[in-house]
This record gives sequence, structure tokens and C-alpha cells, in this order.
Amino acid sequence: MTYETILVEQRDAVTLITLNRPQALNALNGQMLSDLSAAFAAYDADPTQHCAVLTGSEKAFAAGADIKEMVDKDGADFFLEDFFSGWQSKVVATRKPWIAAVAGFALGGGCELAMMADFIIAADTAKFGQPEIKLGVAPGMGGSQRLTRAVGKAKAMDMCLTGRMMGAEEAERSGLVSRIVPAAELLDDALKTAATIAAMPPMAAMVNKEMVNIAFETGLAQGLLTERRMFQILTATEDKKEGMTAFVEKRPGVWKGR
Ligand code: CAA
Repeated sequence: MTYETILVEQRDAVTLITLNRPQALNALNGQMLSDLSAAFAAYDADPTQHCAVLTGSEKAFAAGADIKEMVDKDGADFFLEDFFSGWQSKVVATRKPWIAAVAGFALGGGCELAMMADFIIAADTAKFGQPEIKLGVAPGMGGSQRLTRAVGKAKAMDMCLTGRMMGAEEAERSGLVSRIVPAAELLDDALKTAATIAAMPPMAAMVNKEMVNIAFETGLAQGLLTERRMFQILTATEDKKEGMTAFVEKRPGVWKGR
């Protein structure tokens, strides 16, 4: 499959997706949504692929939704197209794990896209922000919701109301990113991390992802019940039998993915 705005390659069981609109600092336009939707669907459907990494360039992960694509649209256009809805229904809907590897600008929709990942690994050059207020709007791809859940009200308000950028150190301190690595090591580190995840029992990886996400979408009692049920469901897999037997026999597990 060929794409206009992204590059996709497979490295063993890891799919690497690179945003590729350098002339626009990887601004997210309709074509990119369509390309990413297709790439994530292909990744989800490919039984040989077990983790993905989404990255951008050294200068920008993505500088936001494409302002030039939005400048001439009116309110009815945005409403009738249900603008931005595809990010939730196509990209967030990915069932297998994926990591965002962020260097440079991750602003507006770029920050929001990174927050759609299961977690973010940041280069020391990463800069996150929700500057939509400066354009007379507000986040529209989850920024006000996911940023607030990640960093809390005070910092999310600060970011959304001032439009300022947050560097990698502050992002790690605030819980937005899982760790910081030197920019030159970002891709290697993210690919190695993805390979570690890809070597896990695949259904267990999907269920772990789903369960952590449920923690953000439900109350504690319901979340704990769901967790217990998901645990019980996983015990019915062949990989559970293999994983526990392999532990007892002091050898690595060999996964069937079911
Ligand atoms: N949309 C469209 N084009 C963009 C863009 C965007 N979000 N961000 C950058 N570009 C383009 C610039 O227009 C420029 O193109 P031209 O050379 O053709 O003019 C090119 O990328 C390089 O950008 P700059 O010359 O501005 O680069 P810089 O290094 O001087 O500045 C920057 C970098 C600070 C990131 C600056 O580009 C910037 O502020 N970009 C916009 C950031 C922003 O407001 N993002 C939020 C968008 S709205 C949104 O995302 C809504 C939502 O919730 C989903």
C-alpha cells in the first residue's frame, strides 16, 4: 500500500509509521487522517505485527491540524463533516499497542495525536502545547480532555489558556510522557521498546492496553470488576498455559497469539 503523507515500514513484528509532510511541519490534513486510518487498520489486521511506533521528524512530530485546510471553512462545514471525528473512530480505535516517539514540536493536533498513543517517549527536544486559543478556537482532537487527565487541571488550564509550550523535562515531570531520551536515540529507543512489547503474548498486550484505557473511562468499582473479568478471560488462552508452564520449566514462552 502506498501513502501520500506517511511512510510505513515493518521491522520484524514492529510497524514504524513516520509522518511525512516536512514542508508543513507534519500538519495534520484530511489526507494524513485517511493515510493514518488505513495504516493503523492494516497494522491491526496483520497477524505478524504486534506493536507500532508513530514518529515525525527531528523538527516536528506534528505542528497541529492543518490551519490552511481550515481557514476557509465555515461553522456549518465543520459541523456537517463532523470534523476531527475520524481521529477517534479510526486512530484511537486501534486495538494493538502503539507508541508515539516525539521530537520537536507536538502542538495542537500534534500533541493530541501523541496523546492518542498508548504512551509517549519524548526526545529532549520535544515541545508540547495546545495553542489553539491563539487561533480563536480550542482543542478539537481530545486536547482539553486527554491533557487534563494526563497532567491535571492546573497545568492543562495553564497550557490551554496561555498556549505556551511545555518542554520535555516538564512533560515528564507532569506525567505526559513516560520518559525522555537524547534526540539522537529516540527512534532506536522507541523501536527497542516496541520490540519488547511485540515479544509479549499478543492477546495479553491487547487486553492490558484495553484495561488501562478503561481506567480513564469508568469508575473504580466498575473498572476493578472489568479488570477481574478480563484477567479471567485471559486465563482461557493457550498463551496463559504456555506462559505459566514456561515459567515453571524455566524457559522462554513461545506464543500462539490466542
Ligand atoms: N498548519 C498548516 N501549516 C503549518 C502548520 C499548521 N498547523 N504549522 C506550520 N505550518 C507550515 C507553515 O505555514 C510553514 O509553511 P510555509 O513555509 O509554506 O509558510 C511551514 O509549516 C514551516 O512553519 P514555520 O515557518 O512557521 O516554522 P517556524 O520554525 O518558524 O515555527 C511553529 C514553527 C512554532 C510550530 C509554527 O509553525 C507554528 O506556530 N505553527 C502552528 C502551531 C499551531 O497553532 N497549531 C495548532 C493548530 S490548530 C489545531 O491543531 C486544532 C486542533 O485541536 C486539532
